[in-house]
Amino acid sequence: MTSQTFAEKYRPKTFADIKGQEQAVEIAKKFVGEFNLGKITKSQKKALVLHGAPGTGKTTLAHVIALETKSEIFELNASDLRNKSKLQETLKPAIEQQSLMSNNKIILIDEVDGISGTDRGGITELLYLIEGTTYPVILTANDIWSKKLAPLRKKADLAQLKEINYQTIKDVLFNVLRKENLFLNQNIITKIAVNAKGDIRAALNDLQTVSKMKEPQLLELDERNKETDIFNALKIIFKGKPSNEILRTFDSVNMQLDEIMLWVEENIPAEYSGQELAKAYDALSRADVFKGRIYKQQYWRFLVYENILLSYGICASKKNIKTGFTSYKRPTRILKIWLNNQRTAKKKTITEKYARLVHVGKKRALNEFPIIKQIIKSNENIQKELRLTEEEIEYINRPVEINYF
Ligand SMILES: Nc1ncnc2c1ncn2[C@@H]1O[C@H](COP(=O)(O)OP(=O)(O)OP(=O)(O)O)[C@@H](O)[C@H]1O
Ligand SMILES: [Mg+2]
Repeated sequence: MTSQTFAEKYRPKTFADIKGQEQAVEIAKKFVGEFNLGKITKSQKKALVLHGAPGTGKTTLAHVIALETKSEIFELNASDLRNKSKLQETLKPAIEQQSLMSNNKIILIDEVDGISGTDRGGITELLYLIEGTTYPVILTANDIWSKKLAPLRKKADLAQLKEINYQTIKDVLFNVLRKENLFLNQNIITKIAVNAKGDIRAALNDLQTVSKMKEPQLLELDERNKETDIFNALKIIFKGKPSNEILRTFDSVNMQLDEIMLWVEENIPAEYSGQELAKAYDALSRADVFKGRIYKQQYWRFLVYENILLSYGICASKKNIKTGFTSYKRPTRILKIWLNNQRTAKKKTITEKYARLVHVGKKRALNEFPIIKQIIKSNENIQKELRLTEEEIEYINRPVEINYF
């Protein structure tokens, strides 16, 4: 048996293999096609951002475009963008040199939102290089609407990869089962597909696990929850034995370390008490010191220490391994209040500006916010007249997330 995951083994190789993303595929084809034909006019963008939820095919689409256009692919990741000199070292020669292997080349910058908001140098340099590129640049991002990517949004075309509906996921799963010569009950397949919530990778991973089970009909799949990972990670840190593996606990959590810190902080008292509690808070406060230094000095190496303190440091604060179940909480106090304030603050300032301009009461305008939002969204002149800030425009344009289930 091979050790390859289904997700890797069945990664699409052609446009036709990519399911449920017709629109994004069309945009991407057109973008690279026109670029390679030298049809780019001044107004045309030199970069394309493929954005969308995890496991919807962003990285795959980028690679398939390269395969289908017989292009060499030159790949960079967010850590290459951490500083200007590093970027110059890697990306610049790639952009300026002729490809050795073939005539076409595509520059892929995968997971560009991994770059931190304070990492201004990286983004600025990236934009500058996009300006000068003679090859199409494709970037991928989960959340293109984050503030730090605002400058990139202006310089790039956007193509959204949708969360795949469960029927399509089912088709993909059936196809894999057929090729693997496996049989599974329909209900289980449906369950996996629905549970994946648009994430094909997650569905394929579940399928692989389930197909190895002796009695899959007994299966009770947990509701797939984007926060499962952090809950598991907390369990490992708080209950497990300190070891080298502990250091990698947060690697698989789809969350920035700063946010992870909020979760750890919130849940320390749920697990530790007495001396353990004091030790854990000590590790936390030292992690926080490094975080401060990272922001002030942009010294990324400190991320390593922040991570060590948050994982090993917190884990080793206890005397003995813990058993039993602890119900961990979201960092409601801090995170939710903050997020909510951010949201309503923008809604409020936008409404105030609008109410002043059209001479209606603030309260009435607030009640009619959904309509007002549409009006503002559809007309850039109004946005200018209202003198909306960058953040307010971002708020107006952020699409309401659609949940298929
Ligand atoms: N639209 C799709 N059609 C068929 N298979 C897909 C599709 N999207 C994803 N997959 C499967 O899921 C795997 C993961 O996809 P991919 O790595 O492209 O996701 P991604 O959008 O880049 O996710 P992330 O945001 O986590 O990087 C692929 O290897 C492939 O097997
Ligand atoms: Mg990817």
